[in-house]
Amino acid sequence: PGGLPLLRLPVVVTSQETSLAANCRRVYAHAHDYHINSISNNSDGETFISADDLRINLWNLEISNQSFNIVDVKPTNMEDLTEVITSAEFHPSHCNTLAYSSSKGSIRLVDLRQSALCDTHSKLFEQHEAPGSRSFFTEIIASISDIKFSMDGRHILSRDYMTLKLWDVNMDSGPVATFQVHEYLRPKLCDLYENDSIFDKFECCQSGDGLRVATGSYSNIFRVFNCGAGGSEVTTLEATRNPTREGRFRIPHGLRDL
Ligand SMILES: *[C@@H]1O[C@H](CO)[C@@H](O)[C@H](O)[C@H]1NC(C)=O
Ligand SMILES: *[C@@H]1O[C@H](CO)[C@@H](O)[C@H](O)[C@H]1NC(C)=O
Repeated sequence: PGGLPLLRLPVVVTSQETSLAANCRRVYAHAHDYHINSISNNSDGETFISADDLRINLWNLEISNQSFNIVDVKPTNMEDLTEVITSAEFHPSHCNTLAYSSSKGSIRLVDLRQSALCDTHSKLFEQHEAPGSRSFFTEIIASISDIKFSMDGRHILSRDYMTLKLWDVNMDSGPVATFQVHEYLRPKLCDLYENDSIFDKFECCQSGDGLRVATGSYSNIFRVFNCGAGGSEVTTLEATRNPTREGRFRIPHGLRDL
C-alpha cells in the first residue's frame, strides 16, 4: 500500500574469510606442581578439571584462585611412585563422571558423588598381557598418552605407543577393539628406546557418529580406522601444508566429523 521505493537486491556477494583470535579472559593458577597434561570441560557448563602427573583438580569457571583436589596419586614417599596420571577427561554428559589414564596402561573411571577425594575408582580398565608375551618394553609401550570418551559416553578410546584401543564402559575385562597404528616399528623398539622416541605421545579422536577413530604417527601421517560393523578398513593420511601436491590427500567420507 502506498507503493515501495525501488527495492534493490545485492547482485554480488563476496565472502570474507573469518579469522578467529583467542584472547585470555582469566588465569587459573597455583594449583599444580607438575606439567598439566589435560584440561577438560564439564557438561554442567560451570566446572572443568586440570590434571598433572599426580593430581587432578576441579575448578569453577568463575573462580580462578581456588580449586578442589579430586584425585591425588602422590605416595607419601616419592620413592614408592610407580605410576603417573597421563590424561583425564570428563564424561560428555554425566557431570559426575570422569576418566583418567595412567603410565601403566590403565584407565580409571571416577564418580564425584562418592567422596570429595576420589582416591577410589568406580571402574578399572586394563589389558592383561598374555603370559610369555612380556618384554622389557611391555610396560613402557603400555603407557596411555591420551583418552577420549565417545560422544554418547558409552566408549572410551585410548592411545598407547603402538595401538589405539576402544573400551566399552560397561565391560572392564578388556578392550572391545584394538587397532595397530605402526606395527612396522615393533622390531625397532630397542632403537626407539635408545633415542627416547618410545616416550613420544600421540593423541586420538573419534568421529561424532562413533564409526571411525583416528590417531597420529610419524612422518606427518595419521591413520583412520573403521570401528563400525563395516570391518577393518584403514586409511592413512598425510598432513601437509601443500595438500594438492600429487593429489594424494583424500578426505574419506565421514572424516569431516572428526
Ligand atoms: C579468591 O578471590 C575472592 C575475590 O577476590 C576472595 O574473596 C577470596 O577470599 C579468594 N579466595 C582465596 C582462597 O584466596
Ligand atoms: C629413533 O630411532 C628410530 C629407529 O632407528 C628412527 O627411525 C628414528 O628416526 C629415530 N628418531 C630420532 C628422533 O632420532
